[in-house]
Amino acid sequence: MLVSSLLFFLAGSAIAEEQARPRKPIILEKSGGFQIGGKIIRNSFRPNSTLSCDHGYMEYFIPWRPRTTSLVMWHSSSSQVWQNRWDGGEGYKDMFLRRDYPVYLWDGPRVGRANWACENTTYTPAIGIDQSNFVAWMLGPRFKQWWPGVQFPTQNEAAWQQATSARYVEYDTKANVELQSDAAAIAADSGRIGSDIVYLTNSAGGLRAMMTTTKANGTNIKGIVTYESIGYVFPDNINMTAGTGGFGPLVVPLERFKKLAKLQAIQFVWGDHRAENSTYVKQSRLAAKLINECGGNAKVVKLAEDRGLRGSTHIPFADLDNREVAGLLNEFLEENGLDGYVDGEEDGDDGDGWE
Ligand SMILES: *[C@@H]1O[C@H](CO)[C@@H](O)[C@H](O)[C@H]1NC(C)=O
Ligand SMILES: *[C@@H]1O[C@H](CO)[C@@H](O)[C@H](O)[C@H]1NC(C)=O
Ligand SMILES: *[C@@H]1O[C@H](CO)[C@@H](O)[C@H](O)[C@H]1NC(C)=O
Ligand SMILES: *[C@@H]1O[C@H](CO)[C@@H](O)[C@H](O)[C@H]1NC(C)=O
Ligand SMILES: *[C@@H]1O[C@H](CO)[C@@H](O)[C@H](O)[C@H]1NC(C)=O
Repeated sequence: MLVSSLLFFLAGSAIAEEQARPRKPIILEKSGGFQIGGKIIRNSFRPNSTLSCDHGYMEYFIPWRPRTTSLVMWHSSSSQVWQNRWDGGEGYKDMFLRRDYPVYLWDGPRVGRANWACENTTYTPAIGIDQSNFVAWMLGPRFKQWWPGVQFPTQNEAAWQQATSARYVEYDTKANVELQSDAAAIAADSGRIGSDIVYLTNSAGGLRAMMTTTKANGTNIKGIVTYESIGYVFPDNINMTAGTGGFGPLVVPLERFKKLAKLQAIQFVWGDHRAENSTYVKQSRLAAKLINECGGNAKVVKLAEDRGLRGSTHIPFADLDNREVAGLLNEFLEENGLDGYVDGEEDGDDGDGWE
């Protein structure tokens, strides 16, 4: 009786505190979007008949008083995962806008708002993908059999429906990795997303951001944080057979690989249920080692084992404890000198309730 009323009191006071201390408002200087990369193809009989296609789409939100680092959010399932927590609460987009970071939501060629392709594409409805999403996103070992302590609102059927419906058509091919990284490299070099880019990626977005870095010729890319990257890039001076599908491993000339070592920092982040001997964890450790051997700064971070955050799904930045996960990203940006303001002034008192 005493215990339950104490718990009730604590829960009540936490809510009261959140209400009493409103979060810092989001104040934007501007927002908008643009197409970038892609090509113009011509009708072979009527050369003045053209189609502009295979570009990417970038939506941007620029705070009134911005920091220098642009956070470029690269989805896997869809860019919705950056916008809200699983239960509809605040996602990374608003959290980091409150922290004054310019935020960019990227849809690569052929997906989302860049679906204007140069070639025929097909969408095959795959009945059963709801069930495979559940397992692949590390919500549980079998459909609706939740992992104990999973950071998902397990009793909230609407939250599950939101999660599984928010999907883009997925092109898990090497050709699509090349196509998307071509457009993203042009975007990075263009200066239109700033001169200090940190990619935040999920799942197959990680391989694409790594590939983009090996293609860009400028110095605008400063960091990459991958959440559960399925696929890595390796240099051609090691014994590694390139994969032929959309999840790597991809092999690039050593000179291009070395561009990854020029970034301030790279972090490969893993949620729960990722054994050390599983394919992609092993690849993340090898990729980090090789980047560091080239003079870079790459680390593998397991949220549970290394940072004590348990129950993480495949999309930890949408999890119920995403404020804690975001806190780690905040530390990463600070530790690597990526948290400065454009006006050069110090970080004031945020008053945003972040620990
Ligand atoms: C094609 O466009 C060019 C340049 O605008 C123009 O000079 C030419 O007349 C056009 N040809 C046709 C067949 O419309
Ligand atoms: C695309 O599909 C259309 C309609 O089926 C067909 O006419 C066209 O030849 C296809 N184009 C290519 C490049 O396959
Ligand atoms: C970088 O330079 C190489 C060599 O000139 C070029 O082939 C490539 O297209 C450039 N990348 C971008 C993104 O412009
Ligand atoms: C390269 O790796 C393959 C597969 O692991 C192995 O069979 C082969 O002996 C290796 N070759 C060298 C030169 O290390
Ligand atoms: C990975 O390690 C676990 C024990 O830690 C073992 O049960 C499993 O068989 C191993 N899997 C592979 C693919 O080696």
